[in-house]
Amino acid sequence: MKILIVGTGYVGLPHGAVCAEYGHEVHAYDIDERRINAYKSGEKEQIERQVNEPGLADSIAENLDRYLFFTTDVNSVIEGVDVIFMCLNTPPQRDGSSDLSYLSSAARDVGKALANRKEKKRVVIVNKSTVPVGTARLVEGILKENGATNFGVASNPEFLAQGNAIEGSRRPDRIVVGADSDEDFAILRRVYAQFTNHVRIHYLETTPETAESIKYMANSLLLTYISYWNGVGGRLAESFENIRMEDLKRGVTSDNRISTWGSYVSNGAGGSCFGKDIQSLMYQLNRAGQQTDLLRAVYNINEYQKHYLIDRAVHEADFSFNNKTVTLLGLAFKKRTNDMRDSAALKAVEALLAKGVKEIRAYDPLAMDAAQDYWFNPKDNYLFERITYHDSAKEALQGSDACYISTDWEEFRGLATSIENATKAPYLVIDGRRMIFDFDALLAKGYDYLPVGGPLSRGTAPAKAEKKAKDKK
Ligand code: UGA
Repeated sequence: MKILIVGTGYVGLPHGAVCAEYGHEVHAYDIDERRINAYKSGEKEQIERQVNEPGLADSIAENLDRYLFFTTDVNSVIEGVDVIFMCLNTPPQRDGSSDLSYLSSAARDVGKALANRKEKKRVVIVNKSTVPVGTARLVEGILKENGATNFGVASNPEFLAQGNAIEGSRRPDRIVVGADSDEDFAILRRVYAQFTNHVRIHYLETTPETAESIKYMANSLLLTYISYWNGVGGRLAESFENIRMEDLKRGVTSDNRISTWGSYVSNGAGGSCFGKDIQSLMYQLNRAGQQTDLLRAVYNINEYQKHYLIDRAVHEADFSFNNKTVTLLGLAFKKRTNDMRDSAALKAVEALLAKGVKEIRAYDPLAMDAAQDYWFNPKDNYLFERITYHDSAKEALQGSDACYISTDWEEFRGLATSIENATKAPYLVIDGRRMIFDFDALLAKGYDYLPVGGPLSRGTAPAKAEKKAKDKK
């Protein structure tokens, strides 16, 4: 099949790379020349600066100029195309609705290019990014207005999680295809030939509107799981003595009907999807005259969770952030990505600055460049000048009064020793990801430990300063 990918971000690029792996002729188109040049270079570092996904750069390098091609000129690749995947950004607007301007503008370009084809063979235009219910019809209208003929519009939502996009594309749980005609279903079955009769992968054919709804329902349900655990399970273990969070998790999720995914309590779920999609779903339902109390609660719990630990540090640990130096460990919204969109760290920084911290010493294994894009512009907020950037957790910990673990990077599991070597008690460790299991050693040295999903543990040894004073007496 000749496939055109429109938009080469987190959705389009991995999808295009895996389509090329399956032997399709894939042309990936983007208006951003810098991006396209980076991909064309085939160089790992350049590709990963744009989209950082394990295995992606290797997959591109392997198929580049054989099955996978990049272009900024849609007209040059339109002839003979079978399927066009629309993989555009649909960012949230203030009222929760999705901004469809990138998608609409790309649909106009595609419509014009299709109108100029010499051979007008059947082509299916597929919405791959998450778009509001009814968007397939909208795209259909734009294509028609711009002169496209002999086409169908389908919805085939992407269910990938970042950090696992390539593996997830190679072995998805399910493929959902919403289309209007048998002809279009047949074309898409050829794209996904390796999955249509797979024993474990569900291949579902339905209407475009059902496919669009499946994606919103799925993401909102996943966020509901997380908010249930953060807002109920976590609160139980934080409020009553002697509750073991890990046992609570295992005990509840050993019921086959209850998912284990989502039971990992955290300082809130970030990323470009959950927050945006649940807000968009509420907006769509409200516009249809429906109330959305459940979704609103799920969303609010998640947003609150992103700065809740800073409040707990003040109220429970009596920690005053004013004029203190705080180390922020982890900036990305989850491990194995450099993406900071909607990350809990963004909210933590706002809360810390509002509480008057003197310095925030930031470190993330992958997201330092992204962090500087977010915060390096003092014009946005002069307080961002208080953030300093460091090459390692060890370095970032030097001279701080407290640290806050915001991302679940595996390397943070061994932090206890670094904390002990780089800082002095009294010191507060705020753990938004329950990364430090061996905190007993820290407690014995006089450090305080405040984890999500657990009560505050006070250092059991007198702090060094107090000890010295006592010794003097
Ligand atoms: C999410 C969905 O999981 C995908 O199925 C969906 O396709 C995607 O959105 C999308 O709409 O494109 P993603 O945002 O990449 O994927 O990442 P997740 O792995 O779901 O993590 C989201 C956030 O939830 C992260 O901050 C993560 O740390 C947090 N999380 C996850 C928890 O706090 N607790 C958990 O138990 C699991």
